[in-house]
Amino acid sequence: MTKDELRLSGVTSGYGPTVIVDGVDLILPAGEGLALLGRNGAGKTTLIETVAGRVRLQGGAIRLGDADLGRMSPSARCRAGIGLVPQSRQIFGTLSVEENLTVADLKRGWTVEAVYDLFPRLAARRANGGRQLSGGEQQMLAIGRALMSAPRCLLLDEPFEGLAPVVVDNLLEALHRLRSEHRMSMVVVEQHARLAVDLAERGIVLERGRVRLAGDRAELLARWDEIEDMLALSD
Ligand SMILES: Nc1ncnc2c1ncn2[C@@H]1O[C@H](COP(=O)(O)OP(=O)(O)OP(=O)(O)O)[C@@H](O)[C@H]1O
Ligand SMILES: [Mg+2]
Repeated sequence: MTKDELRLSGVTSGYGPTVIVDGVDLILPAGEGLALLGRNGAGKTTLIETVAGRVRLQGGAIRLGDADLGRMSPSARCRAGIGLVPQSRQIFGTLSVEENLTVADLKRGWTVEAVYDLFPRLAARRANGGRQLSGGEQQMLAIGRALMSAPRCLLLDEPFEGLAPVVVDNLLEALHRLRSEHRMSMVVVEQHARLAVDLAERGIVLERGRVRLAGDRAELLARWDEIEDMLALSD
């Protein structure tokens, strides 16, 4: 096992007694990207929130390098290197951009200036309230806030949802920079397979909480029609 490799073995999780994610195995080598695909309700959010510690692990194991995450609190997982950018973004509307970035007062990891270098748009808006931001700016802020804790593995839940194509391009460029300049691993949840596969060396398709298909980019591209069918019948 390489340092910082994310490894899930037989991960089962859900809400109360209900099983949503059912025996998922996956390996994400350090510095690589994984596209987590699946239609609405497949369990994508449940799976990454299980990795981040927001959903209870019912069975199986989650490791990042040597760290056994399954036994840790969400904040300990964050210190161990997991960064979550949640589907709902969850920025503080009444705080300014800069306050959103510094509220956790981590005194380590990224500086606000490094976040502004990645997202110059946020620098221009640093004194604006979270509520005054566009959807794209909110997503940049949600990513920036996750970076402040110096993640080695970033979990992004539908980061492009509801954003205009030009904003999506902007975000993609920043995420590519994180991959190339910072060697950050990434799990990108997406319903639009093309976008995620652009960022990821490998991917899995979840169906009713189970891995229906997994492969590297070439394998995914070779089975593209099948994947599109799996993702097509969203509600
Ligand atoms: N807090 C919760 N309590 C109980 N069940 C939940 C909860 N959150 C999600 N579920 C159920 O878990 C299943 C998987 O939901 P999840 O949000 O993980 O799917 P998803 O793949 O992220 O879907 P989407 O593409 O719509 O974001 C769904 O049946 C959903 O109703
Ligand atoms: Mg979801």
